[in-house]
Amino acid sequence: MRILAIETSCDETAISIIYAKGAPSLDREKRKNASHKPSIKYRRPQVKILSNIVSSQIKLHAKWGGVVPNLARREHEKNLIPILKKALKEAKILKTSSKVRPWTDFQGVQGRTLEKILERETELLNQFSKEIPKIKIPKIDVIAVTSGPGLEPALWAGINFAKALAYLWNKPIIPINHMEGHIVASLLNEKNKNQNEKFIKFPIIALLVSGGHTELVLIKKWLDYKIIGETRDDAVGEAFDKVARMLDLGYPGGPKISELARKFKSEIRSADQRTKYEINLPRPMINSGDLDFSFSGLKTAVLYKIKELKKAKEIRFLDEATIATIAKEFQEAAIDVLVSKTINAAKKYKAKTIIIGGGVASNTRLRERLKEISALNSIDLILPPKELSTDNAVMIAMAAYLRIIGVKNPAIKDVSKLKADGNLRLK
Ligand code: KG4
Ligand code: ZN
Repeated sequence: MRILAIETSCDETAISIIYAKGAPSLDREKRKNASHKPSIKYRRPQVKILSNIVSSQIKLHAKWGGVVPNLARREHEKNLIPILKKALKEAKILKTSSKVRPWTDFQGVQGRTLEKILERETELLNQFSKEIPKIKIPKIDVIAVTSGPGLEPALWAGINFAKALAYLWNKPIIPINHMEGHIVASLLNEKNKNQNEKFIKFPIIALLVSGGHTELVLIKKWLDYKIIGETRDDAVGEAFDKVARMLDLGYPGGPKISELARKFKSEIRSADQRTKYEINLPRPMINSGDLDFSFSGLKTAVLYKIKELKKAKEIRFLDEATIATIAKEFQEAAIDVLVSKTINAAKKYKAKTIIIGGGVASNTRLRERLKEISALNSIDLILPPKELSTDNAVMIAMAAYLRIIGVKNPAIKDVSKLKADGNLRLK
C-alpha cells in the first residue's frame, strides 16, 4: 500500500510517500507468542521510500536564535503545496488533469467545506484553490499526519492541509505521534548491520533525543510505549543549541558542536596541550539511581566556565582551541549521561534491542558510544540512517503503516476531532 505522510511539527516542512507491505499483524504475532515464549521478535516490514522531501526553515529562524512558532506556521503554509507536488512527482504519481477543473467547480458544498477546513490558513487556501484542482487524485491509500507533540501553530498547518486533501481525495487520515515516528525511523535502515536481519527482538529500549524531548521508552511490542525516564528540564538537543549559542556557533547547535568536538581531536594533539586546555564539566544525575535526566545544570556549568575563562585570561572572546575544548567536553558530558542511563534501562528491563531516534541521534559520537556499549552487553542496536534521524515525513508514514497492520481501524473516524496537541505523550 501507498502512504502519503505530512510532517510540520517544528521548522521542517516534510512530505513523503512510501510503499509498504509485509509483516504479520501484530495481533497474530502476539497470540502466537503468548502460548509459548514471551514476545521475542517481530518481522520487519518491507518498505520502499518513493519520495522524501524535507524543506528546512533553519535559515529563517537562525536570526532569532530559535524557532518562532507563527513564522514556522506561515512558512509551512507557503511550502506545503510545492512540496506535495515534488513528493508526488518523485514518487511518479503526479498526474495533472488535461481538463483543469476551475475552483468554481468546487464552490458549492465542496468548496465551502474546503474553505471552512482552511479558514485559518488563508495563504494555503489561496494556493490550494489554484493548484490542487489541477492534480488528479493520486494512487495513495491513506494520508498520515503528525498531530503532536510540537509547536501547535505549526502542527495545525499540516493537520488542516491533510484534512483538506483527505476530504477532496476521499482518503482516510491516520494521526501520528511525532515521537513514535522517531522510534520507527530505525526500521528504515537497510545498510546497518543488525538491520539486515528480518526480525527485531523485544523488549526494546528507545532513547529519544531531540530539540524538545529526552526520553527513555520501554517497548514490549509495537504500538505499546511506556516512558520510563525523561528530562526534568531542558531536552538534550536544546542544551546543544543553547551551548552553541553561548559559544557563538549559531543555530542549530547540535551539528556545529559535534563538528567542533571532532576538530578538537585533530587540533589539540599533544597531551601537553590537552592538559593546558583541560576543562571538566559535571555529568548531571548520572548516579541518581533513576532513569531521568537533567541538562539545565550542565548548560549553566558551561556558562560559568566561559565567564571564568574570560575573566582569568582578561579576554572578551575565547580562542578557537578553547571553544573546541568546551564543545568536546560538553558533548562528552551529555553523551556519558545518555549512554549510562540507556544501558541501565536496558539492563533493568532485560532489553534485547536498543533503538535511538531524534535529531541528536545523528550525532556520530553518540552513535559510536552506543555501538560500543551495546556490543559489550550483547544487545542489538538499531540506528536510524542519519538523514532520517532529524525531522522528516518518512518516519511518520512508517509509524502509520505499523498502525495499519497493528490495529483494526487506525484511521480517525470523525475528522473534525483531529486536533493539534503540542504536548502529546507516547502511550
Ligand atoms: O528531531 P529534531 O530534528 O527536531 C525535533 O523534533 O526537535 O531534533 C533537532 C535537534 C536540535 O536541537 C539539533 O541541535 C539537534 O537535534 N541535532 C544534533 C545533531 N544534529 C541535530 N545534536 C547533536 N549532534 C548532532 N549531530
Ligand atoms: Zn523531531
